[in-house]
Amino acid sequence: MNYEKRKTVIAGNWKMNKLPSETYDYIKEVASKTENAKCEVVACVPFVNLCAAVEAAKGTHVKIGAENLHFMPSGAFTGEVSAAMLKDLGVEYVIIGHSERRQYFAETDVTVNKKIAAALEAGLKPIVCVGELLEQREQGITKEIVSMQTKIAFAGIDKSAFSSIVIAYEPVWAIGTGKTATSDQAEEVCKIIRDVLCELYDEETAEGTTIQYGGSMNAKNAKELLEKYDVDGGLIGGASLRSDDFATIVKAAE
Ligand code: PGA
Repeated sequence: MNYEKRKTVIAGNWKMNKLPSETYDYIKEVASKTENAKCEVVACVPFVNLCAAVEAAKGTHVKIGAENLHFMPSGAFTGEVSAAMLKDLGVEYVIIGHSERRQYFAETDVTVNKKIAAALEAGLKPIVCVGELLEQREQGITKEIVSMQTKIAFAGIDKSAFSSIVIAYEPVWAIGTGKTATSDQAEEVCKIIRDVLCELYDEETAEGTTIQYGGSMNAKNAKELLEKYDVDGGLIGGASLRSDDFATIVKAAE
């Protein structure tokens, strides 16, 4: 982390967990347990939980995010949710291009790019996920894969937008597997992403952008990961569902 240059962001990704009826109390719990947080605290929750989450977060430091959106502004897209709808609800962040969306819902680098543009247009802050598969790491092409994902994701995106963009490096083999990347592996790839931003934009943009690590980050390993210079926070799945663990991670970001 580098507090001087960029914002540290600890974001929970609830995935398809917790009921709408459990959400209000849980967000209140997270808010009180992370009250003195020095970093940005975000909870990204399922669409149907958003109303309760936004309500509970009012007057607290906790920001609410969605886990996905559609890139079209409106129209005949049954079952989809637009950026403007999220904004209207009081949502601030949105996860884009999570590997589960890429794997199970046919999301591609190109749709990720369109979704980032739609989110920014509506005034939402995208948390853009990139990361390699296990086979790709074993083939030694992590750098190529992550660089390509980053380049396509931000095609046509102006550098002025980077004050509201967060990138999450999430090695797919580490997600939900209990197999965390070592802090050196996390640092190495976060640095690769930063170098790509420098190539695409400039040093100032690269140094100012928050790049999180995600993938089995938990109360025990968070501190070591967050101590790395290029790791500016975490995108937390499993451990964000337990308020004590999540609060410990937020504390580790100090
Ligand atoms: P995990 O999920 O912490 O459960 O590995 C992280 C994520 O998918 O964002």
